[in-house]
Formats: sequence, structure tokens, C-alpha cells
Amino acid sequence: MIKVAVFGYGTVGSGVVDVIDDNNELISKRIGDDICVKYILDIREFPGDRNESKIVHDVNVILDDPEVSIICETMGGTKFAYPYTKSALEKGKSVCTSNKELVAAYGPELLETAKSNNCSYLFEASVGGGIPIIRPMNTSLAPEHIEKIIGILNGTTNYMLTKMAREGSNYDDVLKEAQDKGYAERNPEADVEGYDACRKIAILSSLMTGKTVNYENIYTEGITKLTALDFEYAAKLDRSIKLLAIAEDKDGKLAAMVAPFMIGREHPLNGVNDVFNAIYVTGNKVDDVMFYGKGAGMLPTASAVVSDVVECARNMGRNISFAWSDEKAPLADFKDNERSFFVRIKQNAKDEAKEMFADAKEIEGVSGEYAFVTAKMSEREFDDKIVKLSDVINIIRIEE
Ligand code: HSE
Repeated sequence: MIKVAVFGYGTVGSGVVDVIDDNNELISKRIGDDICVKYILDIREFPGDRNESKIVHDVNVILDDPEVSIICETMGGTKFAYPYTKSALEKGKSVCTSNKELVAAYGPELLETAKSNNCSYLFEASVGGGIPIIRPMNTSLAPEHIEKIIGILNGTTNYMLTKMAREGSNYDDVLKEAQDKGYAERNPEADVEGYDACRKIAILSSLMTGKTVNYENIYTEGITKLTALDFEYAAKLDRSIKLLAIAEDKDGKLAAMVAPFMIGREHPLNGVNDVFNAIYVTGNKVDDVMFYGKGAGMLPTASAVVSDVVECARNMGRNISFAWSDEKAPLADFKDNERSFFVRIKQNAKDEAKEMFADAKEIEGVSGEYAFVTAKMSEREFDDKIVKLSDVINIIRIEE
């Protein structure tokens, strides 16, 4: 019998217990052994909950129980998750996590601890919710030199952007709806400011390069400046607005960034709406592959955690390895990237703008505004020009 403990009985943690219970027979068959949840660690009480008897408040009850071989860490944050995960791995217990904060901050160290203790640290649910992407990156795409990853990696913001585009809804209402549906992080700042997507692309970039890409070094812009008018302009340009996380190999250096982009209707990520995420990966031999599914929500994320549990159960007593060292990946300056930019300025700066961006394409705008799409130029060249322009209302990058 495989005995599992769950750290954190929140949205994802309770989903993990449900997936293991509801699909118990088929999971057991696939593992070749029976499986059950023995403990659930949480500081709270859950009177009347069907798993009330499994709740413990002291992590040592779990760490000291030799019967527990696999732990699902769904606590979030790093303050408690880091020491608890480290101690579990040191005791030879495998840990399966949905915690991208912890993976992005301590991934290589925890992978090394797992290796030294013949157990595993798996993190399928840390990127893309229910989408299988970590295991494919580590196994199916292992022969590939990955040239580029473009991801819609945050379910909350994709849900919000879809609603704003389809219904002209305002930002605060759609944020509240996303929170009510359980997609948003407790602190919505992590979603709407792009920090969550940034951590996820840092994890994918690390797997892409085999070295550590520090999330703090990734240029990140969120969706908070977008308004209903931006979506009207996007519709005129036959484009949608998506929060993209991009990692690209530039002559051996990694260029990564997170920002809202306008993408064309024919772009493979254009049809990715609502809480869905997608990761579009280009390898040097396989060419383009795309992974699609629900990027947030209780059961999709819990299913990804349990997929790791199955993998650990099939590999008891041995380490599932990842090529991710703590050596820092060399980074390219994202300002060297070339692209076009959609720009909105106040009408009074029109002449100045026309002179500065001579090749720009004018977009029919609203009264009092002048809007245009620039010719392709580097981020640096664009920045140098735009700082000199007065009365800029908004800028959105364009991904071809
Ligand atoms: N808040 C995250 C999202 C949850 O919306 O994508 C899944 O990581």
C-alpha cells in the first residue's frame, strides 16, 4: 500500500485527496499497488469534513512516519513549504508539488536533495495547471534543442482578458469573477502583475537551458494598464490581447519576458481563451509542438499533482532526474528583440509622433487620441524614441 500525505488542505490539496479517492481503483491498477491518503497537514480544523480524521497539525507526525512515502505539497509560498519539503526529501520521501514559487526559488537545490536521498521532487502542476508540460519537457523533448517557448501561463489573466475582449467588461468585475471561481491567487497581484507567469516561464526556461534562470531577472509587465479601449483597437487590427511569457534562445543566451501582446487571428495561441493555458514550444528537430489545457482550477491542477504521485509510486526507491543545475543561465538583453509596437497617445502629440515614427501605420482612433503601429524595431530603439514623446496613453507589443 502506497501511503500519501498532503501538505495544505486548500483548493488544490482538497482536489488531490478527491482525485486519489475518486479514481482510486484505476490509479491503483496503473501503479500496481493500492494507494491512500493517510494524513492531511493543515493549521485549520475541518469539523464535519469527510477527511476530518486525517487532519494533523504537526508536520513531524508525517515526517516521522515511515509508512508515508509520497507527499503532495500544495501549501504555496516558501516560508513553511521550503523547510517541510527539504526535511521530507532528506527522509527519502518523494514530494510532488504545485508550488511554482518554491520550484522557481529552490528548484535545483531540492532536486539535488531528492537525488542524494533516492527519492524524487516532481513539479508537473507548477506550470500550466492540468497541462502535461514538465514531464514532456524532461522526457519527450529531451533530444531537442529548444529554440523558443511562448506560453499563455496564467489562467486568471487569460480568463479576464477573454471576458474583457468578448463582453467589454471592466477590469475590477472580471477580477472578482476570476477570484470567485478559485482561479486567482490569494493575492491577485501575483496574477495580474504577471509575477505568476514570470515564475512559470523561469521554470520552463531552466528546463530549456538546463541551468537556472532567476525569475527576478525576467522583465515582467502585467495586465493592469489594459482598458476596454485597448480591446476595441485590437479588434480593429483583427488581433487579440494575450499575456505572453516568452523564452527564446539567442545565440546561446536566453531572452525571456512576460508582457501583454497583440497577436493575430492566425497565431496558434489566438484560440486559447478563458482559463485555458497553452505552451507553444519550438525544438530544432521536432519543430513546433503545442500543449493545451486548463491552466488553473482545483481538479485540473490536482490531477497534475497526482500524475506525479503515480510517477513516484512507479519509481519507488529511485530518483527521477532532471537536467537543471544551479549554474546561472547566460541571459540576453530583451531590449535587443525586434518587434512592432501598438501605441496610443493624446491627439496633441500627433505631429511629434508622425515625425518620430515615420514608417508607422495610423489606426483610426477615438476622439482626442492618435493611435499607430510602428515598423519593426528593437525594444531599445523604441524606448529611446518613446521617452521623448509626450502624452503616451498605452503601449502594447505585437507578436507576429
Ligand atoms: N493563479 C494561477 C493561474 C493558478 O491563474 O494560473 C495556477 O497556477
